[in-house]
Amino acid sequence: ARDRKFTWEISYQHKSLDCYKKLAVAINGLTPGPTISAEQGDRIIVNVTNNLFMENVAIHWHGIRQRGTPWSDGTDGVSQCAIMPGETYTYEFVVDRAGTFMYHSHYGLQREAGLYGLITVSLPVGVSEPFSYDFDREIILSDWYHNTTYETATDLASIPFLWVGEPQSLLINGRGNYSCSGLAASVCNSTNPECLPSNLTVISGKTYRLRIASLTSLSALSFQIEDHEMTVVEADGHYVEPFVVNNLYIYSGETYSVLVTANQNSSRNYWTTINVVSRQPNTPNGIAIFNYDPIDYQKLPPTNPPPGPLWNDTKSQVNQSRAIKARQGFIVTPPKKPDRVIVLLNTQNTIDGYVRWSLNNVSHTLPSTPLLIAIKENMTGVFDPNPPPDDNDSANYDIYSVANNTNSVSSSSIYRLQFNSTVDIILQNANTMTANVSESHPWHLHGHDFWVLGYGEGKFNLSRDTETYNLADPIMKNTVPLHPYGWTALRFKADNPGVWLFHCHIEAHFFLGMLVVFESGVEQVGDIPLSNYGCGQTKSFIKP
Ligand code: C2O
Ligand code: CU
Repeated sequence: ARDRKFTWEISYQHKSLDCYKKLAVAINGLTPGPTISAEQGDRIIVNVTNNLFMENVAIHWHGIRQRGTPWSDGTDGVSQCAIMPGETYTYEFVVDRAGTFMYHSHYGLQREAGLYGLITVSLPVGVSEPFSYDFDREIILSDWYHNTTYETATDLASIPFLWVGEPQSLLINGRGNYSCSGLAASVCNSTNPECLPSNLTVISGKTYRLRIASLTSLSALSFQIEDHEMTVVEADGHYVEPFVVNNLYIYSGETYSVLVTANQNSSRNYWTTINVVSRQPNTPNGIAIFNYDPIDYQKLPPTNPPPGPLWNDTKSQVNQSRAIKARQGFIVTPPKKPDRVIVLLNTQNTIDGYVRWSLNNVSHTLPSTPLLIAIKENMTGVFDPNPPPDDNDSANYDIYSVANNTNSVSSSSIYRLQFNSTVDIILQNANTMTANVSESHPWHLHGHDFWVLGYGEGKFNLSRDTETYNLADPIMKNTVPLHPYGWTALRFKADNPGVWLFHCHIEAHFFLGMLVVFESGVEQVGDIPLSNYGCGQTKSFIKP
C-alpha cells in the first residue's frame, strides 16, 4: 500500500459541455474531474483549494466507507465545516476495498454544477478478478442544466415553489448535444469541440470492462450500446452474479461494471445512448460513439440511435433491480434478524407553504455546526435531541392518494443506532402532491454498505414481506433505487463509528429534506482534525 497525493484547485470555468456556454465548477480546470486510480489499501491524500470566489466546497468520497476517518467524509453540516473561498483543506482516507466508486461535491447543489469524478480501486498485485477482460474503460453519466445552481436553489426554497424541470442535456463523459438553433454562436456553438460526442474506441474481438457511474442530479437512466450485449459483473464495489442485459438501468449514485465484447461488424461504428427513465422525459437522449478501431471515431453510425426502453416501464426496472445478486463464492451473508426496523415513508408535502420532502412526516435539515463534532464534543443546542420516529403509522397510509400530510415538520433530529447493531430500513414510496405520480428515489448510505433484501410493489407488510427477503445471496450496495409506488428493504450493521447521512441522491430532493442522519459509536471516534472546525459552535474550540 502506498500514499497517493493529489492537489486540486476548485474554480468556476466557462464550459460548453453540451455546446451551450455556462459556468461550471471544475477541478484543475476539468469537469468531470480527474479519476482517482488507486490500489486496495492505499491512502489517498487530496489537498483541496477553494478558488470559487463566493462559495464554499466540501467533497464526498461516495462508496468509500471512511473506517477510522469519519471526519473525511466530506459532508457539509455532518462531518466538517465546508472549505471557504481561498482556503485549503486536506482529505485523507484509505481505500480499503477494490471496485468502482465516485466523488462529488456535498455542498448545496454544487454537484450539479459539475464537481464530480470517478474513483477506481484495483486489487492488490497477485489477486485477480473472478472475470476476465482485456481493457478497462470509464464512463461517467450525468445530466446538465443551463440554470445556475443559485437560481435553482432559490426557486426550490421559494413560495411559490418553482421547479427547475427536466435537464437540458444528458452527458456521457462530460459531453452532450444541445440544439443551438436560434442562439448566437457566442452562447451556443454546435461546432465547439468541447461538445463533440465522446467516443469509446474498441478493437474488434477484445472484451472491455466498462466502469459506469451515474452522477446525475435528477435523472434515472438507461444505458445501452447498439447491438452489443453487456454482462453485469460489479455493482457499487461488489461482485455481481453475472447476468446479461441489452440496457442497464442506472440510478444516481450507483456504479456498475459491465463486460462488453467488440464482436459486431467492425467496419462501422455503433451508438452508445442514454435515455431518461422513471420520469416523463423532456431531455434528448445522450449519445456517444462506440468506435471500432481503425475507423474514424467521429464517423457517425449508419443507423438511428436506439431509442431505449419506455420511460414508464417500471416492471422491467424492478426486474433488473431484483436480478442483481451477490456473486457465488463472494457472498457475505447478512445477520438473520435485525435488532431494529426503521420504516421510512417517503412523502412530498408542504410545510408553512414550502414544498418539502419528508420521511415519516419529518423533513430533515442539517445544522450549521457539523453533527460529528457536535456529538463528539457534547455540544447542546445544535440539533433536536428528540429522535425522529422509526415508523409513523405507515401501515395505514394510503400510498396511492395525493399526499396530505398536514402534520409534517422540519427538524434537525437524528437516529442514534446502537453500535454494532443490525438495522433494517424499509423505504416506502407513495404518491407525490401530483395525482398519479410516484417518483423513483435512489437512496445512498454513507459509511457503510447494506444488503439489499428485496423490492416490492405497493405497501410493505412487515409480517408478510419479511418472509420474502433474500437472505441467501443479497448484493451489498451503497445506493439503491426505491421504485414508484413500491418498497425497498435493506439491512446493515452499524459498525462504523461516526455520523452518517442516508439520503435520496437526487440533489434537489436532498436539498428539500429527503435525508436522515444516523449516529453510532461516536465515543469511539478518534481526534477530529482541527481543520474540520471553524463554523457554527465549533468556533469556540479553536484556541490561538
Ligand atoms: Cu453521493 Cu451523500 O452522496
Ligand atoms: Cu428523491
